[in-house]
Amino acid sequence: MEMAFTAQLLLLSSLFLQPVLVHSQTNGSIAVGGSLTATAEGNSSLSWLSPSGDFAFGFRPLGNNDLLLLSIWYAKIPDRTIVWYANNKPAVAPAAPLGSTVNLTAHSGLVLTSPQGEELWKSETIVGVVANGVFNDTGNFVLEDDSSKKLWESFKNPTDTILPGQIIQTGGSLASRQSETNYSKGRFQLRLQQDGNLVLNSINFTTESTNTPYYGTATTTGTVPGSEGKQLVFNDSGYMYVLRENGGKYTLTWGNRVSAMAYYTRATLNFDGVFAQYVHPKTFSGNASWEPLWSLPENICLDIDADSGPGVCGFNSICTLSAADKRPKCECPRGFSLLDPNDLYGSCKPDFIQSCEEEEEHLYDVQLLTNTDWLTPEYARSEEFTADNCSESCIQDCLCGVAIYSNQTCWKKELPLSYGRVDSSLRTTTFIKFRKDNSTLPVPPSPSPDDKKNNKTTFTGIRPVILAAALLVCLVLIAAAFSLGLFFTFQKKQVRIMQSGLNISLRPFSYQELQEATNGFTEELGRGSFGVVYKGIIQNGSQVQVAVKKLHCVIQDGDKEFKTEVNVIGKIHHKNLVRLLGYCDEGQQRLLVYELLSNGTLASFLFADVKPSWGQRMEIAYGIAKGLEYLHEECSTPIIHCDIKPQNILLDDYYTAWISDFGLAKLLMMNQSHTHTAIRGTKGYVAPEWFSNMPITTKVDVYSFGVVLLEIICCRRSIDVENNCEEKAILTNWVYDCYQEGKTDAVLDHETEALLDKKNLEKSVMVAIWCIQEDPSLRPTMRKVVQMLEGVVEVRAPPCPSSYTRSA
Ligand SMILES: *[C@@H]1O[C@H](CO)[C@@H](O)[C@H](O)[C@H]1NC(C)=O
Ligand SMILES: *[C@@H]1O[C@H](CO)[C@@H](O)[C@H](O)[C@H]1NC(C)=O
Ligand SMILES: *[C@@H]1O[C@H](CO)[C@@H](O)[C@H](O)[C@H]1NC(C)=O
Ligand SMILES: *[C@@H]1O[C@H](CO)[C@@H](O)[C@H](O)[C@H]1NC(C)=O
Ligand SMILES: *[C@@H]1O[C@H](CO)[C@@H](O)[C@H](O)[C@H]1NC(C)=O
Ligand SMILES: *[C@@H]1O[C@H](CO)[C@@H](O)[C@H](O)[C@H]1NC(C)=O
Ligand SMILES: *[C@@H]1O[C@H](CO)[C@@H](O)[C@H](O)[C@H]1NC(C)=O
Ligand SMILES: *[C@@H]1O[C@H](CO)[C@@H](O)[C@H](O)[C@H]1NC(C)=O
Ligand SMILES: *[C@@H]1O[C@H](CO)[C@@H](O)[C@H](O)[C@H]1NC(C)=O
Ligand SMILES: *[C@@H]1O[C@H](CO)[C@@H](O)[C@H](O)[C@H]1NC(C)=O
Ligand SMILES: *[C@@H]1O[C@H](CO)[C@@H](O)[C@H](O)[C@H]1NC(C)=O
Ligand SMILES: *[C@@H]1O[C@H](CO)[C@@H](O)[C@H](O)[C@H]1NC(C)=O
Repeated sequence: MEMAFTAQLLLLSSLFLQPVLVHSQTNGSIAVGGSLTATAEGNSSLSWLSPSGDFAFGFRPLGNNDLLLLSIWYAKIPDRTIVWYANNKPAVAPAAPLGSTVNLTAHSGLVLTSPQGEELWKSETIVGVVANGVFNDTGNFVLEDDSSKKLWESFKNPTDTILPGQIIQTGGSLASRQSETNYSKGRFQLRLQQDGNLVLNSINFTTESTNTPYYGTATTTGTVPGSEGKQLVFNDSGYMYVLRENGGKYTLTWGNRVSAMAYYTRATLNFDGVFAQYVHPKTFSGNASWEPLWSLPENICLDIDADSGPGVCGFNSICTLSAADKRPKCECPRGFSLLDPNDLYGSCKPDFIQSCEEEEEHLYDVQLLTNTDWLTPEYARSEEFTADNCSESCIQDCLCGVAIYSNQTCWKKELPLSYGRVDSSLRTTTFIKFRKDNSTLPVPPSPSPDDKKNNKTTFTGIRPVILAAALLVCLVLIAAAFSLGLFFTFQKKQVRIMQSGLNISLRPFSYQELQEATNGFTEELGRGSFGVVYKGIIQNGSQVQVAVKKLHCVIQDGDKEFKTEVNVIGKIHHKNLVRLLGYCDEGQQRLLVYELLSNGTLASFLFADVKPSWGQRMEIAYGIAKGLEYLHEECSTPIIHCDIKPQNILLDDYYTAWISDFGLAKLLMMNQSHTHTAIRGTKGYVAPEWFSNMPITTKVDVYSFGVVLLEIICCRRSIDVENNCEEKAILTNWVYDCYQEGKTDAVLDHETEALLDKKNLEKSVMVAIWCIQEDPSLRPTMRKVVQMLEGVVEVRAPPCPSSYTRSA
């Protein structure tokens, strides 16, 4: 019954469409010598049809230029969606001028030639002699020799779409297009990696390298040999899965079962980075359209962060996920407009230039947004604020571009903002500043020192000049980068330029100021390898609690270098790194002033009588990993901490982990040679290479992190001779023994919450064991550690940390 109905509609539909589409009738077989010519649409545009007429192969017009695209499309549905196009020159937009021909030749397969005789494209090198082309009803265009051997297939050379029956082998990939209507290679990729993991990532166009994936199926070997993916299969009934080496399947298609008889289905890597499977009824109906069945990643606005390359949306823009199809939309906030009005996903420029010269309050207002944030690090953070305090403080601060308020905390950020996103999980109230009168201030002329004196209409303050100049430089750079098509490549660099141009520099203190601030160095907060820390209060408009660190290793003649290094440290901003506010460099005295965090050190938290919750501990471990990753990979020169231990991890009100003392190892060893004379670090946490002649690299921090991770998991100290029997005294050895005997649970001392989260426990222990490998080259990088903790990459079974056998 239903079939009959369908057939009737199909007939109806083909009748409807008949006058519009004129095709050369084929039975799906095209003989050598056959050709098609690119003509203006509406003028007997010729194409080859598959036997059922579902798919067409031929030329499709590109926009309103006299250019056409050699492609395969659905021939029976009104929007004639393109599923393949001739494109194998990455840097060249695929297009053929009117009058171009595609010929089926015996020795070169399909050849696309311009009217001037220039070869624009051809099917990849053919080994053998083509007898004929077969255009299959699956949408696959195949070139066969006279024994029906397949010499070339469009299915084996996919573009951004995959169809039922199509398979991607390891190493294979799909590439997104530039935009909905521009078929040049875009910046996203779906790849079945050699390790079996199916990933989505963006591409760095300068280096042709791939950025860290923002999605992965984690179908790697892992703990079960043979579980790595070997093919991405889109089977004939429209199901997509990663086929594992051992025959298992990692299913991607879920949702309602749809009939392959009644629906077309395809999966496309969209130009915005979302990979989705769509269905479209085959029957003709006025409003039928492609409906998504599923899509990846879950939320691209949140999943693409600084690690995975430039954001979906440009600077200052805000990414919102559309609920219906999980595709991102970009929007400029009020007071901002698109830099390039044709690029909806591009950057937004402010319609005003903020100046510090004017009466702030009257000119600016804030737009209230909810659940919105940017990943751009804050330059100021205030606690115990009300929402009004927060918006007020932004309006009055001429550097502030946006203030984000949540949990009585106010984060102020400066322009340009990147990775803007809206998500209900953020639970923030956001105040974005705009100029009330919509007027644009004149861009100041480039400052030359002589005409600057006493001219009221020019900016005289040093900061506004830098601000304006930096904005100008930035906009010019963005514009230049755009014209080169390299915008995204430079995005990170620009953020850096902006930040270094705008940073409020570290505040220098006199020794006496700090003596007063700390009440004569009375209240001691702690002692570390680098010095003693005192509590203090400084006046900074309001009273701010600080931690003052008195360095006890004084360097002679190191004056200039001290300032340089301190300024390097002062420029580092990350949500898991304690912020340096100022310094004192007077005579023999070297002091550093840090922000003070409310909840003490991780050591006191972890080794207290009451165990903190498992969830909280895992959050902390992840925070430390992120902080270290930043130090190792995101700073202009990698910073080795050298003394990672629970005493150096501080906690704020929300038990977020903040790493302190970074940069100090370098600061205090400035005049020493590369091979170290003195061991930095603390017993129990130092990597073995400190004791050998091996070079000290970031891997020493990975080792220490591994030890700390074990302490976090077990809530006990790494070396504990008093409370534990001999076999348990050294934490690293004991945990490895438990792990090897398959008794990972034993490390937890009957903690129910953690035992319920057994998979995570197992994973964390394995990550820690990888980190404490004696051989530094076996230890993962912190980036890898973060990915393993996130579950983006699967954790393989670690080997024994030490090469020589220990007696059990
Ligand atoms: C398809 O048509 C061509 C001629 O148009 C013919 O040579 C060929 O045998 C036909 N193939 C089939 C399978 O009918
Ligand atoms: C159609 O093609 C013919 C010959 O190629 C040409 O003379 C004519 O102008 C075309 N018509 C349109 C509407 O493009
Ligand atoms: C392609 O086919 C057309 C029409 O058959 C013919 O005029 C042209 O010379 C052929 N071009 C090539 C490169 O074989
Ligand atoms: C299309 O090609 C596949 C694989 O070669 C084959 O199994 C199938 O029968 C073909 N379908 C048609 C309609 O020719
Ligand atoms: C498509 O994008 C590429 C790269 O950005 C550009 O060179 C080309 O001109 C664009 N093509 C069209 C038709 O806009
Ligand atoms: C496609 O895969 C699904 C799920 O694995 C399976 O149920 C179905 O039978 C498969 N269809 C074909 C034609 O292999
Ligand atoms: C088409 O429109 C009708 C009426 O507006 C609606 O009931 C139906 O669900 C629509 N179909 C699709 C596929 O959107
Ligand atoms: C916040 O605003 C209230 C009321 O306007 C004011 O009394 C209070 O001092 C402000 N707090 C801060 C920290 O500025
Ligand atoms: C605010 O606090 C809640 C719970 O106390 C926490 O889940 C949330 O992440 C915090 N929000 C921010 C932005 O830190
Ligand atoms: C400024 O622009 C906004 C939106 O573009 C508009 O709603 C508002 O009325 C304008 N304000 C003035 C004072 O022109
Ligand atoms: C002040 O600057 C303005 C704008 O650059 C310029 O036109 C004017 O001549 C300057 N006046 C003096 C006194 O330098
Ligand atoms: C691309 O790679 C180059 C060289 O490694 C790097 O400097 C640049 O920051 C990368 N661009 C992006 C957008 O990650």
